[in-house]
This record gives sequence, structure tokens and C-alpha cells, in this order.
Amino acid sequence: MKYEGKKGVIFDLDGVICSTDHLHYQAWKALADRLGIYFDEKINNRLRGVSRMASLEIVLERSDKQYTQEEKEAFAEEKNNIYKELLKTMSPKDLSDEVKNTLVELRARGYKLAIGSSSKNTKPILKQIGLGDFFDKIADGTDITRSKPDPEVFLIAAERLGFDPSECCVVEDAKAGIEAAKAGKFTALALFGDAKGCGLEDYDLNGFGDLLNIL
Ligand code: BG6
Ligand code: MG
Repeated sequence: MKYEGKKGVIFDLDGVICSTDHLHYQAWKALADRLGIYFDEKINNRLRGVSRMASLEIVLERSDKQYTQEEKEAFAEEKNNIYKELLKTMSPKDLSDEVKNTLVELRARGYKLAIGSSSKNTKPILKQIGLGDFFDKIADGTDITRSKPDPEVFLIAAERLGFDPSECCVVEDAKAGIEAAKAGKFTALALFGDAKGCGLEDYDLNGFGDLLNIL
């Protein structure tokens, strides 16, 4: 399957360019333990592609206490402070050769490359893995008011690239991200996670490098 004429490729960050799941897990687990709330890897998997506050609501499902909005905001900040410390352990070693080489080849083929991520930590993460100045444009959690499955972050990324959504592919590992891509009229490419085989995607990728077979 070829997508002739696509000019832009918009990548989700967490779970697509690099893996941060284990760091999110450690940070949410630290908060949940402090609050005496049960939390495990299975619950953590439900947080993929979900905004920070929506993730907190999922974590709090296991609590029998009701918390005020103010307390919830403090919890989200507490988790994020732990997460930010953990992000400092990331390095260019967390960027696989497959991802790096594929990105470089896509650029050589003339594609413009952007990030479309719900994460407010997008820029520090890119810097840690050595891609601080790599992407042509970035749209992230600091730009949006509505998280995926709303298409806002991808629409901003496409606009910044100067392309119509019909001229861009989105690469996602979360079903919410595939829904967002389709809602924005992008071509949706599913990689790993609950994106692959969710039924809404235009194409299931067999690994990141498979992009070079279709673009
Ligand atoms: C997404 C992750 O990319 O960003 C989610 O898949 C995360 O797990 C969300 O909750 C928000 O991230 P952050 O860094 O703004 O808390
Ligand atoms: Mg993701």
C-alpha cells in the first residue's frame, strides 16, 4: 500500500518515537502508593495517549475517597515532578537505530516531519534523546485545550507544516490517537499498542521501519 502525494508525516511521541511508559508507570505508582491506591501495569496501559488529568482520573478510580479539583491538581503536579526527574535518565540510547534511520531516510525522501503529542514534556523528552532540533514542527500538550481523541494537536501540527490534513499521515500507538487522526481527516498509520488492529486505522505498520515500505 503506497500513500502517494503525502507531504507530511506527524508522529505521536510516547510509544512511537521512544518509550516512556515505564517512567510514567514509576511516577504514577509512586503517587498511588503514597495515597494507598492500587496501581499496576495493566492500569498503566490504559493511560497511553491519555492526557495527564484524564490519566489521574483513571488512577483514582481505585480510590474510595473523593478529592477536590485543587487536590487533583496537586496530585498531577506531584506525579509530573517525579516523572520529570525520571526523564533526566533518558539519553540518545533511548532512540533506536531503526527510528533514527527511518526518520533520516523519510526526510531524504522529501517528507516534512512533525510531532503531534499530548505530552507537555515533549520538548524536554526530544532533547534528552538527541532530537531537540530534528523535527520541522512540533505541536504538543502545551498548545492544546482538547486532548486526543480530539484532532486538535494534529491539526495544529499540519497547519504549522503548511499542509492540509489530506496531505499528511499520522503515526500512532494509541487508539485515541488513531481516532484523533481520523477525526481530523488524516491518513492513520497504526504502530503497536491498542492502535494496531483497532479497526479505524488505514494501515497497520509492522514496525517503525515499515514506513519506508509505504512512504
Ligand atoms: C501521552 C502519553 O503522550 O502524554 C500519556 O501517552 C500521557 O500516557 C500524556 O499521560 C500526557 O503527558 P504529560 O507528559 O503531559 O504528563
Ligand atoms: Mg503514544
